[in-house]
Amino acid sequence: MALPLRRSFRTKIDEFREKLSSVWARTDEIFARLPSAELSATPIVWRHPFLFYVGHLPAFSWNQICGAILEWKSFNPYFDDLFCRGIDPDVDTGECHWHPEVPEEWPSVAETFEYRDNVRGALSEAVDAIGRSASADVMAQQGRAFQMVLEHEFMHQETLMYMLQQLPFQKKRRPKFFPRYSFQHSPISRDIEVPAGKARLGAKFEDGLFGWDNEFEEVFVDVPEFTIDSLPVSNGRFFEFVDSGAYDQEVYWRPEDWRWKTLEKKYHPTSWLKRDGDWYYRAMFDIFPLEHVASWPVYVSLAEARAYASWIGKRLPTEAEFHRAAYYGPDGRESEYPWGNTPPALQHGNFDFAVWSPTPIGSRPAGASRWGVMELVGNGWELTDTAFAPFPKFSPYIKSYPDYSRDFFDGKHFVLKGASWATAADLVRPAFRNWYQAHYPYVFAKFRCVTN
Ligand SMILES: [Fe+2]
Repeated sequence: MALPLRRSFRTKIDEFREKLSSVWARTDEIFARLPSAELSATPIVWRHPFLFYVGHLPAFSWNQICGAILEWKSFNPYFDDLFCRGIDPDVDTGECHWHPEVPEEWPSVAETFEYRDNVRGALSEAVDAIGRSASADVMAQQGRAFQMVLEHEFMHQETLMYMLQQLPFQKKRRPKFFPRYSFQHSPISRDIEVPAGKARLGAKFEDGLFGWDNEFEEVFVDVPEFTIDSLPVSNGRFFEFVDSGAYDQEVYWRPEDWRWKTLEKKYHPTSWLKRDGDWYYRAMFDIFPLEHVASWPVYVSLAEARAYASWIGKRLPTEAEFHRAAYYGPDGRESEYPWGNTPPALQHGNFDFAVWSPTPIGSRPAGASRWGVMELVGNGWELTDTAFAPFPKFSPYIKSYPDYSRDFFDGKHFVLKGASWATAADLVRPAFRNWYQAHYPYVFAKFRCVTN
């Protein structure tokens, strides 16, 4: 006999159903940018083809919910395994964590979409089944498993977008609704002093709000006084670094970063082009003269950001400094978001796919932190120079995926905070930590500098 739905869960069921269908609609909108023939494309050598993600999103959901918690019999164990985990090789050595063997030929597009549809159907039933389940699994409680599946899909929507960014224009379809770009000037950055104080990183598990294992347990860090740029570095400001020739001077780079720059033959950020002596910027579906987008944040790798900071005699912030600048204010109190405690909305930042592009820096003053630091959340992730590492009381909690975060505590991945234009509003929470390698230049990541 089925158990009655637990009261705390009952209220969430409709919300989950709605969220699942809206996350799937956005995923479908992203894949609709690709003609079938391009699903096998691998625009970034370090990632699987787009088709992998068609299968990976449902496989992750099936494995976590229907497999690990409900223990349902699989209708396609081969796909559950094949698509269970992607790759994130060390870009310097090519070494990679464990992942399923890459097949000589990926399954067909039709089979993979059929698998996706079957899993989506099963998940709709699983929402009720988990509500009735008496499972003691931590992921079965408080709808955690569904939030995990939703957030996993949100994060991979961003993976897909930065892969799509690298695909040549003629291979992708421009959406009909594509909004207009904006190019207005940005204000001048100011120095903002943040006094010494405590910063809270991470979250408390017992508060019951969803978080990934790497967000727990919360920790308080003493942060000395520092001065931070009120605005992130724009294409215009970064151009001065490139144009002066300093980008190509070893003295500004860390040895390991210089090695990467030299091997990769990098002379400018990945989204810039130089043709017949003129500079251009490659957006998702259009090319612009670089000067048109001078007010947009520059998207660079951590290595390039560090070199720029060294050139101007500054450095990148730490994860704790980001928290001080974003979530505290002159009254010493912590707020839920930089702008206060009201939920994230479009006036606060360029996130949640509102426009499929960066916007001029400073165009959302309502999102400024209480110190007056702008654009901390939205318009590009904020690079920090803090290696991605577990908090002192970390423990992996995903039963069927114990190495979800642990494989990336390798000293080569660094924490990013905030959000980009391709980050779902649900991920805009202070405890959320993103991470990339210092030599991975494809993501929508911006930066600003600090001094002591
Ligand atoms: Fe994944």
